[in-house]
Amino acid sequence: MARGTLNQDHVFYRNPARFYPTVDRGRGVYLYDTDGKRYLDGAGGAALAAIGHGVKDIERAIARQLRKVAFTHGSQFTSEAAVTLAGRLVALAPAGLNRAYFVSGGSEAVETAVKLARQYQVDRGQPSRFKVISRWTSYHGNTLGALALSGHTGRRQYYLPLIGHTPHIVPAYCYRCPFGLAPAACALDCAADLEKTILYEGPESVSAFIAEPVVGATAGALVPPSGYFRKIREICDRYDVLFIADEVMTGLGRTGKAFAVDHWD
Ligand SMILES: Cc1ncc(COP(=O)(O)O)c(C=O)c1O
Repeated sequence: MARGTLNQDHVFYRNPARFYPTVDRGRGVYLYDTDGKRYLDGAGGAALAAIGHGVKDIERAIARQLRKVAFTHGSQFTSEAAVTLAGRLVALAPAGLNRAYFVSGGSEAVETAVKLARQYQVDRGQPSRFKVISRWTSYHGNTLGALALSGHTGRRQYYLPLIGHTPHIVPAYCYRCPFGLAPAACALDCAADLEKTILYEGPESVSAFIAEPVVGATAGALVPPSGYFRKIREICDRYDVLFIADEVMTGLGRTGKAFAVDHWD
């Protein structure tokens, strides 16, 4: 279809006023549209196609599994593929994480982590703990629960009446320091904001704190100052609050370590 005209089909596009080229195939870091135009794929790589398009090993593994069985419901069965993958993930994960729970995408993963945290608090006799604290300038997904945690004001504004109360703290954003400080004067006030917020909300009401180790979709690779996550961990431990690292964008090698939290002790 000619560029300049809008797509004339039945897909509900994210922006109906924009033209979307039809991708025909992907190879390595490139996508090719039906007119043969080549694109360096800077969009899919961050979120999903982290090792590129058209990887033969993946193609063969999918075909092999499809020939055996396409789907087994997790409420009744397991499969060799699930068991093998869980084992590999646990081997890569930080110490102490020894189970993998499979879901369909990032938003569902975030909401599942929030639910697991809540269930953990109830099961250990702390049923008053339900709040999850997150950060401004963050992205945790677009379903209502994940959107509530996300700190992207534009993406949240339409849906505010539909989402629950989720306290947000300031981001670890050195380039635009929320306290107006230069890095040399940094005293990790952005991490201390977590403690203040836990105290304002009431520690007995807080279940978990969630953060992207390196912020991705809202700011483009915000790396926290050194010592930030150590201080966050200390605060979480002090108030018995679980720490959820949202590694949807950063996990599995995308920052040079298996998981981005591995960059800090
Ligand atoms: C850090 C983070 N969490 C969650 C999500 C949501 O993932 P999904 O789009 O698969 O629901 C994203 C998506 O970009 C993300 O970057």
